[in-house]
Amino acid sequence: MANERVTREIPIPGSVERSLLDEETIRRRVEELAAQISADYADRESLLLVGVLKGAFIFLADLARRLTIPHHVDFIALSSYNRGMVSTGAVRLIMDTRAPVTGRHILIVEDIVDTGHTLKYLMDTFHARQPASLRTCVLLSKPEQREIEVPIDYLGFEIPNVWVVGYGLDFADRYRTLPYIAVLKREAYE
Ligand code: PRP
Repeated sequence: MANERVTREIPIPGSVERSLLDEETIRRRVEELAAQISADYADRESLLLVGVLKGAFIFLADLARRLTIPHHVDFIALSSYNRGMVSTGAVRLIMDTRAPVTGRHILIVEDIVDTGHTLKYLMDTFHARQPASLRTCVLLSKPEQREIEVPIDYLGFEIPNVWVVGYGLDFADRYRTLPYIAVLKREAYE
């Protein structure tokens, strides 16, 4: 009985279909993104990275530690309203940034853009606060799923329309700490 409960609560490797992006591939791409961002912001006084919780926490941590320019880190927590497994497009603000945004160079750091509603909400919200500049850095994009066009200034990878977990991404709040990005088996969520 106890064992069954444990088996259901911890990530079950058998639910993961295959690795889509392995650790080395992610590491190399994050390094490239950090080098590009460091070059682009080299003449700016400071950059404020805003990680979008929860999904971006691992990507942000790795990216920020590779930057060679002065920067600060802050977070915003959002959640999308879902109907079953399908996003309704409505976004809920759970926790705002602590640092003021006005007049600063802002880089929004997201794990994934799917329909685009979350990033659109973030762009509108931050634009209204009159930053000095506003750009986005996104690890994964699913172009087939897009319902709203959003600007992605720095992109890690385009991926097909599959459910991915690991490296911060979840299914029902699980699998976030897998070190690689994997495709979840369809039977796990259907
Ligand atoms: C995920 C992801 C993005 C958003 C993208 O967040 O982290 O923020 O969905 O989807 P969209 O482009 O369709 O709006 P989620 O609401 O699952 O929360 P989490 O980051 O806490 O996992």
